Amino acid sequence: MGNTYPYNTRLLLRQELFFVRQGSYSRNSGYLCSMTQPRIIIAIDGYSSCGKSTLARQLAAQLGYHYIDSGAMYRAITLYFLRNAVDIGNRDAVANAIANINLSFVFNEVRQASDVYLNDENAEPFIRDMIVSEKVSEVAAIREVRVFAVAQQQRMGLHKGIVMDGRDIGTAVFPDAELKLFMTADPEVRVMRRFKEMYATNPGITLDEVKSNLELRDYIDSTRDESPLRRAADAVLVDNSNLNCDEQLKLVLEMVKDRIKAALRK
Ligand code: DC
Repeated sequence: MGNTYPYNTRLLLRQELFFVRQGSYSRNSGYLCSMTQPRIIIAIDGYSSCGKSTLARQLAAQLGYHYIDSGAMYRAITLYFLRNAVDIGNRDAVANAIANINLSFVFNEVRQASDVYLNDENAEPFIRDMIVSEKVSEVAAIREVRVFAVAQQQRMGLHKGIVMDGRDIGTAVFPDAELKLFMTADPEVRVMRRFKEMYATNPGITLDEVKSNLELRDYIDSTRDESPLRRAADAVLVDNSNLNCDEQLKLVLEMVKDRIKAALRK
């Protein structure tokens, strides 16, 4: 498709291609992902390391939906800014940089989740590095960055059948989502989860480093001017401090069943 399409169209086509590759409805069967059921949008928000992505991935697999990790998009943009020494205080520099960024997702069979591609490079191996984690909340607070990311996220939800997690999914990206969840967990539980995740690739990391990074990001994410992290009025609060993944999934699948039934009645 080369450069002959305007940017947005090209992006949309790439996205459709990803969806086709991912193969809707192919990973499970049964009532919830039957071809005859209406497809819904599931929006999952919450602080860092509340288990949003684990739940989102499981739901998508059960339902045959697409899972999109919106945080990965902000991380990939941050990676680009870092690599190209973009001055985030300079609006023109930010706008120029964004114009040169192309994000797409490709389903990774091994991870059973999509990898984010930054200008055709798989950015997944780099976007969870501490250097990116330390900068991403600042980058995600920039208006132009959000406008760019949200527009793409909304295009991905055009055909529904999507689970997306982030900070503003139920409030700004999909305010009409059929099911909105706001996830939370005790701070110690969250720090430990993130530590274990990061330790796997960075054994030099300390608990304190992880804790201060989480606290700082939570603070910036919930106090910024642009779409701060908020629980939408109609979001269901899920506290998973004392739930294992199976219990949590079971609980939420019941909610999904109800919302699909409600969508059927419309
Ligand atoms: O979910 P995560 O920790 O990978 O997200 C990385 C950062 O991106 C996080 O600090 C907040 C920001 N983010 C956001 O502002 N809006 C989203 N929808 C998703 C993430």
